Amino acid sequence: MLKRIVENHQDENFTGIENARKYAEEAEKSSKMRFRGFLKKLAILSIKGKYLEVGAGSGTLAAMIAEHNKNINITAIEISPDMITVGNEYIKKKKLESHVGFINGNIEDDKLLDKLGKFDLVYSTFSLHHWENPEKAIKNLMEYVKDDGILLIYDLKRVWWLYWIPNQNGFFKSIRASYKPYEIKKILSNLCVKKYEIKNVFPFFMQNIIIWK
Ligand SMILES: C[S@@+](CC[C@H](N)C(=O)[O-])C[C@H]1O[C@@H](n2cnc3c(N)ncnc32)[C@H](O)[C@@H]1O
Repeated sequence: MLKRIVENHQDENFTGIENARKYAEEAEKSSKMRFRGFLKKLAILSIKGKYLEVGAGSGTLAAMIAEHNKNINITAIEISPDMITVGNEYIKKKKLESHVGFINGNIEDDKLLDKLGKFDLVYSTFSLHHWENPEKAIKNLMEYVKDDGILLIYDLKRVWWLYWIPNQNGFFKSIRASYKPYEIKKILSNLCVKKYEIKNVFPFFMQNIIIWK
């Protein structure tokens, strides 16, 4: 019943420079609406220092955060080299090179762990439903969080009332590939994570997952 469907769940393609540019253009155009729920939570948490963004795409969100707070330093991990090319161009255009730096890598890869150090905030938007092994990814991400730091994951939520809409476009496929809160709870329980919150975000097919170390 309402099973997660991942096969071909995205029309979005993050490889190929043209696809990356198309994604970047759409992300910038819709940035206010796209990141509103995340930025609201970020403002409430009010975390200073070093940030790690995971699956940073074309750098739209990193630039929005860095533009508003020049004391924040963001390392942006992204698996697609084409997204990084476009992201670097964008960060340069915004003159934020001293605040945002990209690293090419897969968050599920243990080898990354040696390189990165610890962060006050590790965060990710609209990437969780793409991770092949979310349990492994979240386990890795917790390694990057300082002892008093936070992991904040913002993603779509598989809600039944959108699930059954016959529309086959990428957005609805992404909804069908996303997680229900009980599935996230199961992952966190397997990882023995004790302190967390999963909060609905208006218009209720998105969620903020806040994990304290
Ligand atoms: C839907 S896009 C979201 C981009 C950006 N965070 C945003 O909110 O606009 C998902 C991004 O996650 C990246 N990604 C997927 N799996 C990843 C992984 N295992 N490690 C690093 N990045 C990953 C993809 O290449 C893509 O750029």
